[in-house]
Amino acid sequence: MLDRLIAEFDTALRAVAGVHAAGRPAPGADAAEATLTDEQRRHAAALMRVNHVGEVCAQALYQGQALTARDAHARQALQQAAREEQDHLAWSHERIQELGGRPSLLNPLWYAGAFAMGAAAGALGDRWNLAFLAETERQVEAHLIGHLDKLPADDRRTRAIVDAMRSDEAKHRDTALGLGAAELPAPVRLAMRVAAKVMTTVAYRV
Ligand SMILES: [Fe+2]
Ligand SMILES: [Fe+2]
Repeated sequence: MLDRLIAEFDTALRAVAGVHAAGRPAPGADAAEATLTDEQRRHAAALMRVNHVGEVCAQALYQGQALTARDAHARQALQQAAREEQDHLAWSHERIQELGGRPSLLNPLWYAGAFAMGAAAGALGDRWNLAFLAETERQVEAHLIGHLDKLPADDRRTRAIVDAMRSDEAKHRDTALGLGAAELPAPVRLAMRVAAKVMTTVAYRV
């Protein structure tokens, strides 16, 4: 148990500090860097900062899941999703740097908030834990589709990363549903959308 806690704490520190290696190469790495105006570059970096914050939160959620999931099959599926989230974390971090931006200064805060929400969902049992996860993945997927509209059309490197993340998140949602996620009540879904809106608005700037 102590080993597990140390491993989880290590994951948390890495997520917040931005130290992580991707298991899969970054999508779009072979595409040429687009010629962007300063404004476009700043905008793309800010959008990737928002996505990186989302991935920091995903680390916290999946960590909570791994600690509370009771079923071995569920735990294994969630660990696979968590590994893919680590790729997202690394890809978005690297892309922010390539675009000359920096990650959110509030990452420790985002992480703590997501961990608290994940733990609260976990306390309600697997069905609700998975429900929270499935709804999060659904909202993140919709959010990433929105970013594909907002990113410069020529920025193929950033777009390839966002598109690959979008397709993974859809898979993660299906995984959570397949493991027996309940359907969250509408007011909870709305509260999650409001919280996400606050997070994305702040993270675009800070
Ligand atoms: Fe992700
Ligand atoms: Fe995901």
